[in-house]
Order: sequence, then structure tokens, then C-alpha cells
Amino acid sequence: MSSHDTSPFYITTAISYVNGKPHLGHAYEQILTDVMARFQRLDGREVMFLTGTDEHGQKVAKTAETRGMEPQAFCDEISESFRDMTTQLNISNDDFIRTTEERHYKASQAIWTAIKENNPDDIYLGKYDGWYSVRDEAYFAEDELTTAEDGKTKLAPTGAEVEWVEEPCYFFKLSAYGDKLLEYYDANPDFIQPEARRNEIKAFVKRGLQDISISRTTFKWGVPVPNDPDHVMYVWLDALTNYITALGYPDTNDEKYEKFWPANYHVIGKDIIRFHCIYWPAFLMAANLEVPHTVFAHGFINVEGQKMSKSVGNVIAPQDLIDAYGLDQTRYLLMREVSHGNDGNFSHEHAVQRINSDLANGLGNLAQRSLSMIYKNCDGAIPEAGALSDEDQVLLTHAYEKLLPAIRGEANNMRFNRMLELIWRLVIDANGYIDAQAPWGLKKTDPERMKTVLYVLADVIRVLGIAVQSVTPEAGAKILNQLKIAEGERSFANMSKDYALKSGTEIDQPEGVFPRLDTKEEAT
Ligand code: MF3
Repeated sequence: MSSHDTSPFYITTAISYVNGKPHLGHAYEQILTDVMARFQRLDGREVMFLTGTDEHGQKVAKTAETRGMEPQAFCDEISESFRDMTTQLNISNDDFIRTTEERHYKASQAIWTAIKENNPDDIYLGKYDGWYSVRDEAYFAEDELTTAEDGKTKLAPTGAEVEWVEEPCYFFKLSAYGDKLLEYYDANPDFIQPEARRNEIKAFVKRGLQDISISRTTFKWGVPVPNDPDHVMYVWLDALTNYITALGYPDTNDEKYEKFWPANYHVIGKDIIRFHCIYWPAFLMAANLEVPHTVFAHGFINVEGQKMSKSVGNVIAPQDLIDAYGLDQTRYLLMREVSHGNDGNFSHEHAVQRINSDLANGLGNLAQRSLSMIYKNCDGAIPEAGALSDEDQVLLTHAYEKLLPAIRGEANNMRFNRMLELIWRLVIDANGYIDAQAPWGLKKTDPERMKTVLYVLADVIRVLGIAVQSVTPEAGAKILNQLKIAEGERSFANMSKDYALKSGTEIDQPEGVFPRLDTKEEAT
């Protein structure tokens, strides 16, 4: 068996603004990150998985005001719904950070101070006269803007309205980091994934970077700047720091910090890549801290070919999908239908087809018909295998030896659609095998051969049960429970032949894992 990386693994989602409730886009990011975290744990690595909420800044302050609430009370309420979503989606995060927590004030102020101490010229006092988009919490140069249809309103490239801002502020000398960043990108080709995003960022940096404002003075909802509390820190500097707050920063001797920094993966949406691939590494370099390994930018989920938006009225709440299809089915769909970093499309008709063909008729049916036969024809226990035929060997070798290295190659690069395709090749082969061997016919003609065939099937199902756990943890557990696989024998190391089922092990009466969906009944 080939060796693989077993070092500690740190993965994060972006932390969501609390100006609105979670939607499918948030759910997708959480699930994507969760699948990676679970995969690495199953592959024997110690994992730290962080998610949370981004609570400061003008946008959140304004939304709270519109709701007639104190910002903190408002944040408490919305942050709770993001926390609830992690439970609802069976997300295995190890921590949930809120930027209004004490530990985070401390870390944000510390990174500011570290920048000043290490590179005193990198932070200087000045005045910002320019455009600001509250929705993006971002500054834009005049030449990036367009004018709206009304002929007056100025728009950011994101389509958000910008407003003119004049305020005293501290600047960060981003202009000094262009070459260092480009060098870093070249030396670390995995830093920005997928590739197309990397080219986009490189081109942007090559055009030249301007210094950026890193504090605000026209409102108060933020982390006070050390030694100058008239300023609050720019929300992105505050927010990005969450990734090290959770590891105990500023204590760089903290066990977590030592073990997990620099992060393996920051998983984010493609719209916030500049903050993560330009600002964040520059801040870290300035503070003399290490830069993360990989920023992975995912795409957006469209609905029936259209962008999700309140005005179109096609916004889907994660719970709608779970109610219509089930949780594991929803997780499976999102991972199966979206390819590496691209936008994905959600369509109800396609979803039902996919669930029925891959889950109900594919893995579900394979497990159900094989295990039911064992339950009925082998006294409810794993039968004894006799001599193995070539067909048996081929299928078992696929399961014991070929599957893991293949899926590892895809999963380590966040290509979960391909990982699932590979797992489902084994499902298809196993269903082909059962049809070809027709164990139901062997019952009378060759009962010994029937037992061998059923043994082979049961052990392939065991391997499949292990392999699917990162995407469909409940269904995986259900299959493994039916086969009476001990908790300690469910990781990827257990996929091999050494952990093959023991003949005579009594199994539970099989229950369907994935019900078939009725095409008409299930409407979203
Ligand atoms: N709150 C931002 C958004 O929703 C993301 C912040 S990610 C961070 O777009 F790391 F910078 F915090």
C-alpha cells in the first residue's frame, strides 16, 4: 500500500457575515469543507475544522440598526442560526468562532501590533477619500466602477452600490508586497486553487497594488485599534485573523498553533479570493507569520439555471432540500453535481434522477439485495467463502487495493465529484457482478458457490460503506452497523483485505439505506 501524508490537517470555511440568515451557498461551502475534513480524519490525520461568523463592520451595524436592535443582540441571534446550520447539515467542525468573542479581540489587536513591531513603516496614519461598497465591505478605485441605469449611482464590479467616504484612517503598505506575493505564488503553485483563479490573481497583482485602508472612524462596530480607540479595525483584517485566533494566537506556542498553522486549506467563495490571496498573505508576511498552504475558491450554486436571488424568488433554504430529499442525499447531490471550483446547477428533476439512479438503485439496492439474501439464506450470518473465481478476485482487488489510492488522489485536491464517480464505479461493478453471478439461482444448483458470491458482495459493501462516509456519513454508518463493523474499524486503513469480514458474524435484518423518490410527489 502506498504511503500517504499523515500530518495534522487544518481546514476552514469563510466565516459568514451575520447580516442575513444562511442560504444554500453557505450550506454548500460547509458541506464541501466538511467532506474534506471527514475524508482526512478517515485517512488517519488529526484534523482541526473551523467555521464561524463574521460580525463586525458597517454592513452588520447597518442591518442591526434597520432591525432596531443593538448590534451585539442582533449578532447573537443570527450567529445562532449559522451554528444551528452546522447541526442541521451534520457538519463535523471542531470549533465555531465568532469575531465578537474576547479571544478574537485579543488576536486581532495582536496581529496589528505584530505588523507594527516587525515592519513599522507598513502601518501609517492618513486619510481615505474614495469609494466604499458596504455590501462587499471593500474599497474600490474610480476606474473599477460603472454607472447604474439611473445615470448617477456608482457601482462596484460586484454590482453593489458604492458610497463616497472621507475619513481619517490607518493604511497598510500593500504596495510593498507585490513582488513578495508574486514570488510566493510561483514558489507555491498550490497556494491558489483552482488554477484559473491563480492566473486571475497573478494578473491583478502584476498590475500593481495600492496601499489599503485598514481602519474606519465613521462608526464604532469593530475591534478598536491598539492605542487609538477612535479607530476600529477594517472588518477584513479583523475577520481574516479568525483563522489564527482559533489556534490560540497570539500565543504561537499554543499546542494548536504549533500543530495546525499554517492552515492546509481555506475554503472560500470565488468572490472573496482577493482578500484571501492578496491581503491575508501580505498581512501575515508583515506580521512575520507563516502563510497558509492553499486557498480553494469554489463556485456558486445556481437554481434551475438561474442565479439565486431574492428578487427572482428562487432562493432555496438548505432545509427545503433536506425535507425533500434527506440530508445525506442533499450532501451527495451537492458534491456529485458540482465540479472542482466551478458553479453548479441545482435542478429538481435532475436531483430526483440522480438520487434514484446512484443512491436508491445503485448503492442502496446493492446493499439491500445482497444483505437480504445473506439474512434469509445464510442464517443471518456472513457466509464462508470457498475458492475465489477470477471475477471474485477482480472485484475484491478493486475494493481492497485500487479504490483508496484512486479516491485519495481526487479528494486531496477537492475533486469530490470525481471521487464519487470512482466510488460509484465499484458500485456499478458490484451490481454487474451480482447480476452476472445470479446468486438467487445458485441457491439450488450450487449453494457453496452462492455463499462465496454473497461473501464477496458483503465485503465489497463493507468497503463501500467505509468509502462513502465523508459524503454520506449517516448512510455509511447504517451500512457498517448492519454488517456489525466495530467503530474502530471504519477508517480507510480498514478498507484492506486484512480487515475482511469474518464468516459467522451475525448481521442485522437489512433496512433500506436510500429510499426511492417518487418523481411526482417530491416537489420543492
Ligand atoms: N464575511 C465574509 C463574507 O461573508 C467572509 C470572511 S472570511 C474571513 O464574504 F476569513 F475573512 F473571515
